[in-house]
Order: sequence, then structure tokens, then C-alpha cells
Amino acid sequence: MGSGDIVGIGFVGLGVMGQPMALNLLRAGYPLTVYNRTAARAAPLAEAGASVAVSPRAVAAASPVVFVNVADDAAVEAVLFGPEGLVHGLAPEAVVVDMGTTSPAATRAFARRLAERGCTLLDAPVSGGEAGARAGTLSIMVGGPQAAFVRVLPLLEVLGRNIVHVGESGAGQVAKACNQIVVSATLMGVAEALTFARRQGVDAARVREALLGGFAYSRILEVHGRRMLAGDYTPGFRARLHQKDLGIVSREAQALNLALPASALAAQLMNALVASGQAEADSSALVQVIEQLCGLAPDKPADS
Ligand SMILES: NC(=O)c1ccc[n+]([C@@H]2O[C@H](COP(=O)([O-])OP(=O)(O)OC[C@H]3O[C@@H](n4cnc5c(N)ncnc54)[C@H](OP(=O)(O)O)[C@@H]3O)[C@@H](O)[C@H]2O)c1
Repeated sequence: MGSGDIVGIGFVGLGVMGQPMALNLLRAGYPLTVYNRTAARAAPLAEAGASVAVSPRAVAAASPVVFVNVADDAAVEAVLFGPEGLVHGLAPEAVVVDMGTTSPAATRAFARRLAERGCTLLDAPVSGGEAGARAGTLSIMVGGPQAAFVRVLPLLEVLGRNIVHVGESGAGQVAKACNQIVVSATLMGVAEALTFARRQGVDAARVREALLGGFAYSRILEVHGRRMLAGDYTPGFRARLHQKDLGIVSREAQALNLALPASALAAQLMNALVASGQAEADSSALVQVIEQLCGLAPDKPADS
């Protein structure tokens, strides 16, 4: 499917992630109609040649394939089924691709409601952050019918590199929850290690440098470790969104009687970070909660 085979693509939700993803689709030659609740965030897309619609419904009326990238379950529900929601404008056989992180349970329910109207919902959450969204190198984990996956695959290939059809509806969101389990446990480990080094009076930047070449290497150590050392928590991935993702893990774990102690601890620490007024900061600011537990002021040098 080249750009000529698709009449138009819709994109709803132009936040940190949605905006660069939508721009990449536009640059790949796909005609794009966009909507964002806060209209000002659509301006860069309009400048780049996208049509700006007045509602999700209007996006759907212009687009057989609509991408959605909004904050949480409630936002996806509002965009899909609200008074001016996509569902009121979608043609039968339209495909909606939810690229945000939504709970698997809500995703399956949304997919059933869309299927009643002859439309398909694919869950296609991503990993790779804002940098991956800009570079078109996201990892994309997809749930939903194979035929719809095949139909939108050329579009996903504009947005990401590692694209896996994990299984039926909700399977992509399950994979994303697994991603967040690994990411949050690693984030805690990196925060503890750098705090430990600091408290020992050892240069934490040199420790990170040493660890990057060994078995402790991870993208979290590389990217978030750098943020922690610089004390730069410009988002990135907002703490409130990470808190939301750990809430998804907690609720799904409880429903299945699963004991996930590391995820539960990460959820509590993320609650503490949000409670400290850092909801909009990058979630790597979690190191500040560890520092406080250890009696270190956030930007205080180790030996003072
Ligand atoms: N940032 C990352 O590194 C990252 C990585 C992977 C996955 N994600 C996931 O991607 C999704 C978006 O994250 P983001 O970082 O782009 O967040 P963001 O910058 O905070 O943007 C959130 C978007 O959701 C929209 N929104 C929120 N509530 C809404 C509602 N009730 N109705 C309509 N639109 C609503 C916002 O519109 P307004 O502009 O009007 O507020 C905005 O467009 C989340 O599910 C997040 O967990 C993020």
C-alpha cells in the first residue's frame, strides 16, 4: 500500500508522541486530517500541510484509517464515543489504530463496540519515547485482526522499525504493560545505583559510563541515567502517564491474582513522585524520590 492507495489518514491526539508521528506520516506523502482537543497543538501540522478538523467525527468522515494517540482510557473513550467522537463519522470497514497506552480490558471493550458498527480497532502501543517517535524508529506492539494489521502495516512502517503483531485485540496493550514492568524495574535500579554511587562519594557519571559497557547496559541507563545526572526532567514521558501505566499493571495483576512485587513498588514510588508535585516532569525524576528516602537533597553534591 503506497501513499496513492489510501484516500486519507486521520490523526487524533497531537501531544509529545502524536505530533512527531503525524508529521512523519505527512512527510511520507500521506494526505492527513488531524484533530487535537487543544487547537494550538495542531498548528505545526497545519503549517506542514495537514487539514485540521473541528472534531474527531470530522476526522473520521475524511479518513478510512484513523490513528489515535491520547493520554488514557478516558481520553480514548471520549475520542471514540463522545458526542463528537470518531464513531459518528467512521465509514463501515474503517480501521482505528490506538497508539497510546490503554488498558487491555478497556481496549477489548472498545474493539467490541466498534465491531458492532463494522469497524476495527487495532491496539498498537509503542516504546521508544519522543526520540523514537521523531526518528520513526518506534517499537510497535499490535493487537487485533490480522487483515486490519496487514492493511495498516505500511503506515506503521513509517512510524517504527520493530513492528510485531502480538495477537488478538488487547494483546498489543498486554505487551506494552510487559514493557512498562521491565522499564519501571530498570528505572528503579538505575536510580538506586546512581544514588548509591553519589552517597559513596564516587562520580556517578563515571559509574554510569563504566556500566554502559557491561551486563547492566540498558537504554534506561543510557537515556534516563543521563537525565538523572543532568537533573533535566523535561518530558519526555510524563510521570503522571507512567503512574497511569503502572495502574494498568496493578489492576490487571489484581484481576488475575498475580504477585508482581517490583511493579507494585514502582507504582508506589511513582505515586510519591506525582504527590511531590512532579506529575508533568519526565518519569526519570523518580531518582528524586530515592534521593529523598536516602536523605539526599535532589541537587545536593554527594560530599556536601
Ligand atoms: N511520551 C512518551 O515517551 C510515551 C511513550 C510511549 C507511549 N506513550 C503513551 O502515548 C500516549 C500519549 O502520550 P504523550 O506523551 O504524547 O502525552 P501528552 O503530550 O500529554 O499528550 C496527550 C494527548 O492526549 C490528549 N487528550 C488528553 N485527554 C483528552 C481527552 N479527554 N479528549 C481528547 N484528547 C485528550 C491531549 O490533548 P490536549 O493537547 O488538549 O491536552 C494530547 O493531545 C499516552 O497513552 C502515553 O502513555 C507516551
